[in-house]
Amino acid sequence: MLILRRITQICLSFVVFAACLFANEGEKVYQTKCASCHEAYIPMTKLMENFVEKENKLLKLKAPTLNQLSYRLKQQIGDPKGDEEIHRMEVSAFISAYLNNPDKQKTVCLRDVIQYFDTMPSMKGQISEEELESVSEYIYDFDKKVVTEKGVKHELFDTALQEAQKTNKIIVIKVMTEHCRYCKKMDREVLVDDQVVKALQKDFVVVQVDITKSSLPLGLTAELTPTFFFIDKNKKVLQKVVGSWNVEDFLEILKETNHLKGTK
Ligand code: HEC
Repeated sequence: MLILRRITQICLSFVVFAACLFANEGEKVYQTKCASCHEAYIPMTKLMENFVEKENKLLKLKAPTLNQLSYRLKQQIGDPKGDEEIHRMEVSAFISAYLNNPDKQKTVCLRDVIQYFDTMPSMKGQISEEELESVSEYIYDFDKKVVTEKGVKHELFDTALQEAQKTNKIIVIKVMTEHCRYCKKMDREVLVDDQVVKALQKDFVVVQVDITKSSLPLGLTAELTPTFFFIDKNKKVLQKVVGSWNVEDFLEILKETNHLKGTK
């Protein structure tokens, strides 16, 4: 009996070990075989400045960054709204084909970006099937990983309300759906921005609600996503803001809402 339990334990720790190994494998392949050209993460505002205004002279990038690739591949290849497992396979198949046979005509990148790069050298024979598989997974998940790691944390409404009452912070209810393009745009371009995250952490508590999965608190309703409700500690709606904003405008909205707290 004891032996059996011991064997189960050993097997289980092996499974956990193997899973971690696989997750790290993709990053390792990226570091050794791709990182010499592809930078990992650069904030979107900086990238936009680099490519749109400064003709790549600001950052002098050799290739698109992983946050660009992750996002563009998922938008451009296969059906982004379909089954995730199938979508992963489609993206992975594109990456494999591209690495073996690069062709800028097939690019997923924007013209404004791709024009600064030569075609990537073929990696045929330099990367194994397993390595391709794991690095594709790593790229697929990269964009989301950035948002989770760098973005502001979300609370449940009840927790947020308690914190607001204790600290006089404003509750932000961010109304989104999983496939809302402009929600994702804000997540990756604005809600990960250092200044925005700092401003939110200082004076706000953020609640995220996917309206396809749960209803909004306080009987609130929203027709469009993203919608941001700003609510004070007395559950009074200070402001309702609809749509996607850039960093500058969103910072302005936060500042304005802070003033409203004092007046309403
Ligand atoms: C020697 C530099 C270099 C290395 C090493 C390199 N790349 Fe690239 N890669 C580029 C450049 C330049 C582009 C943009 C031009 C293009 O698309 O061919 C690019 C584009 C891409 C694209 C997008 C294709 C498109 O335009 O739609 C993918 C996906 C990609 N690389 C994946 C990888 C992966 C994964 C690795 C590592 C296993 C890797 N690259 C290694 C230079 C490199």
